[in-house]
Amino acid sequence: MSRKKIIAGNWKMNMTPSEAVKLVEELKPLVNNPDVDVVYCVPAIDIIPVVEAVKGSNVEVGAENVYFEEKGAFTGEISTAMLKDAGVKYVIIGHSERRDYFKEDDALLNKKVKKVIEAGLTPILCCGETLEQRETGVTMDFIRLQIKSDLVGVSADQVKNMVIAYEPIWAIGTGKTATTEQAEEVCKGIRDCIAEIYDAATAEAVRIQYGGSVNAGNAAELFAQPDIDGGLVGGASLKADFGKIVNYK
Ligand code: 13P
Repeated sequence: MSRKKIIAGNWKMNMTPSEAVKLVEELKPLVNNPDVDVVYCVPAIDIIPVVEAVKGSNVEVGAENVYFEEKGAFTGEISTAMLKDAGVKYVIIGHSERRDYFKEDDALLNKKVKKVIEAGLTPILCCGETLEQRETGVTMDFIRLQIKSDLVGVSADQVKNMVIAYEPIWAIGTGKTATTEQAEEVCKGIRDCIAEIYDAATAEAVRIQYGGSVNAGNAAELFAQPDIDGGLVGGASLKADFGKIVNYK
């Protein structure tokens, strides 16, 4: 079975609404690749103008975060219904920046994953180890714990349609990419973990991205690995290089 590659930009806290529209226009002729799903995960305030700006292109829009409650007195939060109504298709859940700076734990992330799926949106669930964990030799134990905790109560059919992003924290924004072997080893480990929790068909279907200093120079080799189904791209998604990453072949 061949999984369609999915290459997503994570814009993080960059781009005002007007800058966002400009970037979409600049990238439009560069990101046309029918063999790849292309997603821009953008700040909440950019969602509506970006959805408008990508119309007629192959690009889908994602959110960088969401709250798990349906609606109500949760000042500052955004619901899945709001995202859906605005035209969002994907939601990043559990990025290491949210886990670290905003103290989002696996119990909360599990609620978010379930809410996003229930709403008919696709979660991009992030996991990844710190440098200390890698050096201590507990990378796979830690990631398996994240995956298992974040997927409690999620069915095999639901997992088949979701995206998991492996992002070693030490490789994010550092220019220090995991080696192709390191990235493939963990992505395969995640797939094996999914096979254990669910079954082989689910593991075969779920798409697993690598993220962490992906750039125009390393994308082709990373995405050629059997268990790497694309990338979650930070810094390089904000420039013309993103077009080269999408057309990595
Ligand atoms: P960089 O590509 O800037 O390292 O960021 C990776 C990332 O965190 C994507 O979610």
